[in-house]
Amino acid sequence: MSQPWSPESWRSKPIQQQPVYPDTARLAEVEQTLAGFPPLVFAGEARELRRQFSEVTQGRAFLLQGGDCAESFLEFSAAKIRDTFKVLLQMAVVMTFAAGCPVVKVGRMAGQFAKPRSSGEETIGDVTLPAYRGDIVNGIGFDAASRVPDPGRLLQAYHQATATLNLLRAFAQGGFADLHEVHKWNLDFIANSALAERYSQLADRIDETLAFMRACGLDTAPQLREVSFFTAHEALLLNYEEAFVRRDSLTGDWYDCSAHMLWIGDRTRQLDGAHVEFLRGVGNPIGVKVGPSMDPDELIRLIDILNPDNDPGRLNLIVRMGADKVEANFPRLLRKVKQEGKQVLWSSDPMHGNTIKASSGYKTRDFAQILREVRQFFDVHQAEGTYAGGIHIEMTGQNVTECIGGARPITEDALSDRYHTHCDPRMNADQSLELAFMIAETLKQVRR
Ligand code: PEP
Ligand code: CO
Repeated sequence: MSQPWSPESWRSKPIQQQPVYPDTARLAEVEQTLAGFPPLVFAGEARELRRQFSEVTQGRAFLLQGGDCAESFLEFSAAKIRDTFKVLLQMAVVMTFAAGCPVVKVGRMAGQFAKPRSSGEETIGDVTLPAYRGDIVNGIGFDAASRVPDPGRLLQAYHQATATLNLLRAFAQGGFADLHEVHKWNLDFIANSALAERYSQLADRIDETLAFMRACGLDTAPQLREVSFFTAHEALLLNYEEAFVRRDSLTGDWYDCSAHMLWIGDRTRQLDGAHVEFLRGVGNPIGVKVGPSMDPDELIRLIDILNPDNDPGRLNLIVRMGADKVEANFPRLLRKVKQEGKQVLWSSDPMHGNTIKASSGYKTRDFAQILREVRQFFDVHQAEGTYAGGIHIEMTGQNVTECIGGARPITEDALSDRYHTHCDPRMNADQSLELAFMIAETLKQVRR
């Protein structure tokens, strides 16, 4: 029998990866303020995403989830939001059109601020300071004042998330995402590459198809003129998340209305821990990162806690092994879950197991390893007769040089040119599109 749950029941459980706030009175005040603010999403939208997840779990759609590793207060602009949204739309249209597969679109956006860290401290020379934990917690500057956790940052994160979501909703429904505009989603800096040419050919075929549909009087479906777009972030800073737990007026159930979907990171997925406790009680679709240390029996217990009703729309397992560890670690987890009859949406995060340090000191990822992990993810599913349902990536529409490799290769020496991330290295638009074409090819074969 499970214990009673409440929005604050996580507070009595062991918790990892949290800041220590010096001013707890101010923190409590901010939590109160947030709890009185309007929610970012409506429970009915989270239920719609569960319905779409269920389609994916049953092999009828594919999940595309992407965005920044960490959103930042400084790099907050309409252009940045628009460009990331554009690349996600391009990736989705490539997969939908080339593979004939509906794509569920979820941004790591409008709330992806708090970061787990491998160490609680950072040392440069002979100075040691508390680690940067994301803009919602403290500042990235390497000085003592910046690193003090400031509760006021929760309010700023909320306001940035609402503005971001507002713009995303406008883009998704206000004409920008209209399929007739498919040529205009290309970003200037991708122009004149083989990839741009490939995308342009696909866009031409979509234009032809739309013209044909128009001629037949069939182009009136609203799906051609707007998209469903959802938001997600890691539910790491539970003081923030708890403030958005609201009871749905229609069903009486609890939802975390800070985003449509929330996930638990690989470092905070302890069975008896606060993060699992918190997310088990909300009705949103939820994710859990599954890294190389996950044991098959532990995974089954985790699934039983988070999805006791075995609902196919509830749980997304996000596998992030690293290209060199997929073969050794993933098949036994997949077999166990299949054998126990658990309904889960499997997706691949080919980023977090493939982080390396370049000789220049930059944290980077090799695009070839990212592709390799995705390919192996598909291969393992194929071998086991299960469905590879999605991809979870760190990417941006900005022309950054953070991951090495790709069709227009970024070299190690070029990393310093436009390395802007506040946390992990992201794929740029070129690399993201290249990945989308690779997935579309694979999906086409799988679905044949
Ligand atoms: C992340 O998604 O940014 C992250 C920290 O992932 P993980 O928990 O898988 O390390
Ligand atoms: Co990351």
